[in-house]
Amino acid sequence: MGSSLPYGAQHLALTPNGLGFNGSNLHGRNLPKIKLVGRNCNLRSKKLAVPRCSVSIPRPASQPRFIQHKKEAFWFYRFISIAYDSVLNPGHYTEAMRDDALEAADLNSRDAIVVDVGGGTGFTTSGIVKHVDAKNVTILDQSPHQLAKVKEKEHLKECKIIEGDAEDLPFETDYADRYVSAGSIEYWPDPQRGIKEAYRVLKKGGKACIIGPVYPTFWLSRFFADIWMLFPKEEEYIEWFQKAGFEDVQIKRIGPKWYRGVRRFGLIIGCSVTAVKPTSGDSPLQLGPKVEDIEKPVNPFQILIRFLVGTTASIYYLLVPVYMWLKNQIVPKGRPI
Ligand SMILES: C[S@@+](CC[C@H](N)C(=O)[O-])C[C@H]1O[C@@H](n2cnc3c(N)ncnc32)[C@H](O)[C@@H]1O
Repeated sequence: MGSSLPYGAQHLALTPNGLGFNGSNLHGRNLPKIKLVGRNCNLRSKKLAVPRCSVSIPRPASQPRFIQHKKEAFWFYRFISIAYDSVLNPGHYTEAMRDDALEAADLNSRDAIVVDVGGGTGFTTSGIVKHVDAKNVTILDQSPHQLAKVKEKEHLKECKIIEGDAEDLPFETDYADRYVSAGSIEYWPDPQRGIKEAYRVLKKGGKACIIGPVYPTFWLSRFFADIWMLFPKEEEYIEWFQKAGFEDVQIKRIGPKWYRGVRRFGLIIGCSVTAVKPTSGDSPLQLGPKVEDIEKPVNPFQILIRFLVGTTASIYYLLVPVYMWLKNQIVPKGRPI
């Protein structure tokens, strides 16, 4: 049922024919040319933003899912932070996956200035400080509850910790050598704006590394993904980076080992996208005002409904890694699952 990929990380890069693999056993085999889905997906009510999409039509990235809002994500992590490191993260994002994903960020100097945006409890930061001095690393997140967990970690005590918004970073232009963001883009209402900010804060020649989900192809996973949060397609990541002005955009596919390369259910952490800033200064991309301002008062009832529906949909994705783990135990090694 469905498609699966061989185990291990795979690199993709833009080729004249579209998106192709680099340095993997699928080298040279190109995926179809990048094509963004532009189909409309009507809203039942503007206030509650209830999606009326058919389960088979992907919801455009421009129409945020229920928890793909700053206030809703704030409340989501108010509760998730309690069990984030111990229960919730390990099913989707292991230390091996993190190290694999960070390899693409090319953290080659202990003196590099690194910003970890949406750094949460510092799980990815713990991988960064293996290569870079902690005093050079800044962890930014909009959730004080997540950041409170960072403060409990001895090996991160020298990192700078800032509460802030990924779409409006409090760093000056040309500040950092590396921009890392893991598992956060899916909550940004305007991912293009976040990537434009990544471009701005990097120095010339600096590298951005966004580690994030990938969109499912299995219908039920698509249904719950489109309710919960943004699962971008690989083509979308590439388009956002290119529009922001980045060059040398590369995608490395990652996933939990026990999935045996299966990607059809979607992965909360499924790829590491890297790109280089070619010149100093701000991004050439012009955008209008921010779609969502965390400071602006909003209808609490609207937030509550979106929070409850989105959180309920996320439960499906708690079950997927367990299902895959069981399958991995049952199906003989070497066979696709
Ligand atoms: C899945 S956690 C990832 C945490 C961490 N990077 C890791 O690797 O485990 C997502 C984090 O993104 C943060 N976040 C969501 N939207 C954000 C925004 N607009 N600005 C900054 N942080 C945001 C959340 O508060 C949460 O801590």
